[in-house]
Amino acid sequence: MSKFPEHFLWGGAIAANQSEGAYNVDGKGLSLVDILPDAKHGRREAEYHPRQGMQTVYDFYPSHDSIGFYYNYKEDIQMLAEMGFKVFRTSISWPRIFPNGDEAEPNEAGLQYYQDLFQCCKDHGMELLVTINHFDTPFGLFDKYGGWANRQVIDFFLNYCRAIFERYQDLVKYWITFNEINVILHSGYIGGALDIENEANPLQVKYQAMHHQFVASSLATKLAHEINADYQIGCMIAGAAIYPYSCKPADVWKAKTAERQNYFFLDIHARGKYPSYTEKLFREQNVSLQIEAGDLEILEQYPVDFMAFSYYASYVAADDESDKERSGGNMFSAIKNPYLPESEWGWQIDPLGLRIVTNDLYDRYQLPLFVVENGLGANDTVEADDTINDQYRIDYLREHIRELGNAIEDGAEVIGYTSWGCIDLVSAGTGEMAKRYGYIYVDRDNNGEGTQKRLRKQSFHWYKKVIATNGSDI
Ligand code: BG6
Repeated sequence: MSKFPEHFLWGGAIAANQSEGAYNVDGKGLSLVDILPDAKHGRREAEYHPRQGMQTVYDFYPSHDSIGFYYNYKEDIQMLAEMGFKVFRTSISWPRIFPNGDEAEPNEAGLQYYQDLFQCCKDHGMELLVTINHFDTPFGLFDKYGGWANRQVIDFFLNYCRAIFERYQDLVKYWITFNEINVILHSGYIGGALDIENEANPLQVKYQAMHHQFVASSLATKLAHEINADYQIGCMIAGAAIYPYSCKPADVWKAKTAERQNYFFLDIHARGKYPSYTEKLFREQNVSLQIEAGDLEILEQYPVDFMAFSYYASYVAADDESDKERSGGNMFSAIKNPYLPESEWGWQIDPLGLRIVTNDLYDRYQLPLFVVENGLGANDTVEADDTINDQYRIDYLREHIRELGNAIEDGAEVIGYTSWGCIDLVSAGTGEMAKRYGYIYVDRDNNGEGTQKRLRKQSFHWYKKVIATNGSDI
C-alpha cells in the first residue's frame, strides 16, 4: 500500500537560468547568472568580480545557450508528461519580464513565452509550481541599485509579481517567492544581488537585504491572495539535517546554532516574526537593521501557505572545526560525516536525513511541506545503443523517496516531490553540464558542444513506475 496521499504531486524541477538559454532573445535583459563564467574560469571567483562580467576574458557562459529549453520546451514537456508528471516546477526569468528590473511596463514577449509554456504543461495535465526569483535577479538591479540592499528593489519585485500573478491566474496554482532564500548568507551575489567585495561588514548588508526580501515575500503573498484567492504561496530554504559531530554538549550546541541559521528564514515566513534570539545574534555580529514602520506588521499579517525545501545532503557541525575534513556542497560545505557515502562531487548522501528534516519542519510549523529539490549530480555514460544505465541515480532517489514515505507515515503533511533537474541542465554551483541530475539526458558538454539531442535514461522508466504506483513500487 502507498504511504503517499492520493493526490500527491509527483514531478520534477528546473530553473529558467539553468535551462532556457536564449539569454538575449525577445527582449530579455541580462541576469546575474548570465555573467557567471564556467567552472574552468572560476565560477565561484566571479562572484567577487561581477562588475568585470562579460567585458573580460571569458568566451563561454553556460547560461547563454544552456539546454535550449526556451526553444525545445514542447518536446521536453511531452517527455516529462510521458513519465506521468503531476507537477512541473520551473522559474520565471525576471529579466525576461522586466529586462533591467526597473521598467514600468513588462515585456510582452516574455509574458507570452511563459503563457505558452504553462499552457503546454496544463494541456499535459500538470500543475505548475513556479519560483519567482531563482538566483537570476536582473543585472540592472545589481548594477544601478546595489541589489536587495536597496529598499526600492521591493517595489520592483512587486511590479514583477503583479504582472505575473495577473497574467497566469488560470495556469499556475503554486508559487515560491525566493529559491533557497537562506543562500543569501552564503552567497550575497547569487542570493541578494549584492556587491560586498569592499564592505567592512558584509553581514550587515546581507541581513539588510534579507529583511527586504522578507518584506517583499510577505507583500507578494498578500498581493497574490488579493489577485487570486486560490493561489498557494510558499517560501523555500536550502534544507539539511544538521548533526553534532559528537554528543559533546559543545558540539550539540554548535549544530543547534547552525540549524537556527536555516530555521531563522522559516520562522519569519511561517510565524511572521523574527525569532527571540535575533537581537543577540545581530548585536554579536554588529548588525543593525533598518526596519521601517509597518514592516513587522506586514511580516506578521501575511504568512505563507506552504513551506518548500530542497534536500540533497546532511551536514555536521562541531565546536572545533579546524582539524576536521570537509564535505562538498554548492553554496556551503561542512564537516565530513564518516558514516555516509558521498557523490562524485563530495556531497554526503543521507536518505534518512530527509525523514529527519521533514519531521522537524512539520513538528515545528504544521504547514504543508513540498520537497521541491532532491537528486544526485553524477557523470553519465551514453552506451553505443544510446542507453544510459544510471542505476546509481535510481538508488539515490529510491532511498530518499522511501524515507519521505516514512516521514509521511510518521505524520508529516507533504503535498509533493519534485526531484531536481528532471532534464539535464547547467549546474548552479559549477556551471558544468557533466554534473547531471536528469531522467532525460541532453547531449551537451561542459564547453557547450553537442547536438542537444534528448535521450531517456534508465531512471526515466523507473520514475514513470514510481509515479504510476503513487510511490508504492519503488
Ligand atoms: C540548489 C539550487 O541549490 O541546488 C539549484 O536551487 C541547483 O539551482 C541545485 O542547481 C543543485 O546544485 P548544483 O550546484 O549541483 O547545480
